Amino acid sequence: MIRIYLEEDHAAMSRRAAHIIAAEIHRDPSCVLGLATGSTPIETYKNLIEWNKAGDLSFADVTTVNLDEYKGLAPDHDQSYRYFMNTNLFDHIDIDKDNTFVPNGLAEDADMECAEYDELVESLGFADLQLLGLGHNGHIGFNEPDTCFTKETHVVDLTQSTIDANASFFESAVDVPRQALTMGMGCIMGARRVLLIASGEGKADAIYKAFCGPITPECPASILQLHNDVVVVGDRAALSKLLAEELTEEV
Ligand code: GLP
Repeated sequence: MIRIYLEEDHAAMSRRAAHIIAAEIHRDPSCVLGLATGSTPIETYKNLIEWNKAGDLSFADVTTVNLDEYKGLAPDHDQSYRYFMNTNLFDHIDIDKDNTFVPNGLAEDADMECAEYDELVESLGFADLQLLGLGHNGHIGFNEPDTCFTKETHVVDLTQSTIDANASFFESAVDVPRQALTMGMGCIMGARRVLLIASGEGKADAIYKAFCGPITPECPASILQLHNDVVVVGDRAALSKLLAEELTEEV
């Protein structure tokens, strides 16, 4: 089942998403959260930090598994996803960092790292709640449009559109790594519940294709139509194409 929350703007989207994550932690204080990077979840994380600081939410027993990491970036590189998670969330909450996992972008044997990451996520019983952003081309994690869905955690070649989209975080596009390690669809679909967040007009097309289009690896997020518990939280701009469709149907 897919439930869609329409929120007015980015702030309301972030607040709604943070409430859903907090509810999961209240349900089970030792839950496993699958976490995401990118610009979309930053304000969601800010809400969680605020509630943690206020003493209303504790991450002391929470375990986290992140979706992906750039290949070749050290954990302390300021564009690595480990660094992102530390600075945007982990450094500001009461989580035990030993219980936070991000694929190692510097692993000598990246394929082995991927296999071990799958084993880790499986040993944790998969995520109770997997947070996802959405790429403009419909990618989730770094699962890029392809001819097939890949189940395992794997090394991917990033598409030019993803490199361009992420270039603003780097000094220039040439600095963006060309490869990444990403969870495959096995870990994502293994999560008990998936929470996908999207904001801004730039995501409207990808949201529409993911949830109204055919299930195809050309739009990786479309696989979520096969998951039995998906919550989409989007602002009005991101959901605009979905809304336009619904309004047309009503007429
Ligand atoms: C990157 C990440 C994804 C993220 C996507 C969208 O490619 N690997 O996990 O969802 O960017 O990012 P943004 O939220 O900045 O639009």
